[in-house]
Amino acid sequence: MNKRGLLYEGKAKKMYATDDPNLVLAEYIDQATALNGKKKVEIDHKGALNNQITSHIFGYLKTQGIASHFVDQISETEQLLKKVKIIPLEVVVRNLASGHFETKFDVPHLMRFEAPIVEFYYKSDALDDPFINDAQIIALKIASAEQIAELKAKALQVNEALIPFFKALKLTLVDFKLEFGLDENNQILLADEISPDTARLVDQTTHMSLDKDIFRKGLGDLIPAYEEVLKRIQDKENAD
Ligand code: C5P
Repeated sequence: MNKRGLLYEGKAKKMYATDDPNLVLAEYIDQATALNGKKKVEIDHKGALNNQITSHIFGYLKTQGIASHFVDQISETEQLLKKVKIIPLEVVVRNLASGHFETKFDVPHLMRFEAPIVEFYYKSDALDDPFINDAQIIALKIASAEQIAELKAKALQVNEALIPFFKALKLTLVDFKLEFGLDENNQILLADEISPDTARLVDQTTHMSLDKDIFRKGLGDLIPAYEEVLKRIQDKENAD
C-alpha cells in the first residue's frame, strides 16, 4: 500500500491518502499537546507507543464485536484505516471524577459514578471544543437524534469492553474520549485513537497516572508510563 499526499495534519497524527480511495494511512507523530494545543512539545517515541497501544486496543475491540475504522498496523508509527467522514464531536465517557468534571463540579478526585457519564464536546480548535448538548447537536445539524442515541450506545459499549481489558492490566479506566466517523454507507464507525493520550488510566497498586495527565500536570516524563501500558498489554496477550 503506497503512501500518497498528506490529507491533514492533526495534533498527534498525520493522515495520508493511499492508492486505495477507501483507505487512508495515519502516521502517529512524536508530539504532545495540552490545553487544546496551547502547550506543545516534541516527545521522542510517543508516536510509536500510541500507534502500538491504539492498534492493540482496536484489535481487541473488534474481538468484542465493536467495529472501527482500524484495518491494520503497518509499521511502528503507521496504521491503515478505512476512510470515514469524522463527526465533529468528542464523545467523553467518565467512570470516575477527574479532569474537567472534577474542577467544574468541585467533587473529590476519582469519585466513582453509579453509572458512566457520556458527554459531547463540539470539535473546534477555534472555539476550544465547547461542551454541547443533544438539542444543540441537532440544531447545528451535526447529528440526528437517532445518531446521537447510537453514539451514546456505542460509547457505553466501548466502555463495557475496556473496563475489564484494563482491569486485567491492573489499571483503572477513569475516563476517555472517542471519535466516530461515517463510512461510505453512512454507518457510524468508531474512529481516531484510544491511547494514554485520550484515556486516563490509574495504576491499581501505586495509584499513579499512566497517561497524559503526567504531561498536563508537569509531573515528569510520560514515556516510561506509556511504555508500561504497552508492556502490560503485550505481556497479557502473550500469556493468553
Ligand atoms: O479534560 P476532560 O476531563 O474533559 O477529559 C476527559 C477525557 O477525555 C480524558 O481521558 C482526556 O484524555 C480525554 N480528552 C481527549 N481530548 C480532548 C479532551 C479530552 O482525549 N480534546
